[in-house]
Amino acid sequence: MCAPSDLDNVVLIGFMGAGKSTIGAALARLLNFNLVDLDDVIVQRCGRTIPEIFAAEGEGAFRDHETAALASLADRRGMVLATGGGSVHRPENWRIMRRLGIIVYLRAAWPSLADRIAGDAGRPLAIGNDVYQLWERRLPLYQQADVIVDSDRCGVEESARRLVEALRDGKP
Ligand code: S3P
Repeated sequence: MCAPSDLDNVVLIGFMGAGKSTIGAALARLLNFNLVDLDDVIVQRCGRTIPEIFAAEGEGAFRDHETAALASLADRRGMVLATGGGSVHRPENWRIMRRLGIIVYLRAAWPSLADRIAGDAGRPLAIGNDVYQLWERRLPLYQQADVIVDSDRCGVEESARRLVEALRDGKP
């Protein structure tokens, strides 16, 4: 499989636990693209883990780091970008993501997401928050993607293959 020739980057959005990193890795292999995980970029730039950033600086500062990390990738090509689940909040992030390439929402049903993120200490917002309410609030934002693909209907490799087909056909 190879990437459609007019494809600059693929930007994956979706809630925590939707499979952005795992399906992103499989997709990057299929397209011969590089996988970039936005959380990893933030951690590298800040020299702190995500929980450390939340604990020391708070969510607002984390969102600033997130936008700066996204902006730092603006000239990249040939990348599958796995964003963090909250990257969809800021209009500025959408402008950067739209310039990067096609935006794909990896959609999963609430029970699948809840199962995957329950008690994950690496995800500060998954602990001690009303995560269901957060998910509901974000749904209309995720739905602004160019392409929507269900990520919990089949395995990682099959989801990635379906995603390549969707990118080729321009439909999910
Ligand atoms: C967040 C999701 C996390 C990470 C941070 C905030 C969110 O990324 O960016 O903990 O607001 O949903 P994943 O979606 O990869 O878990």
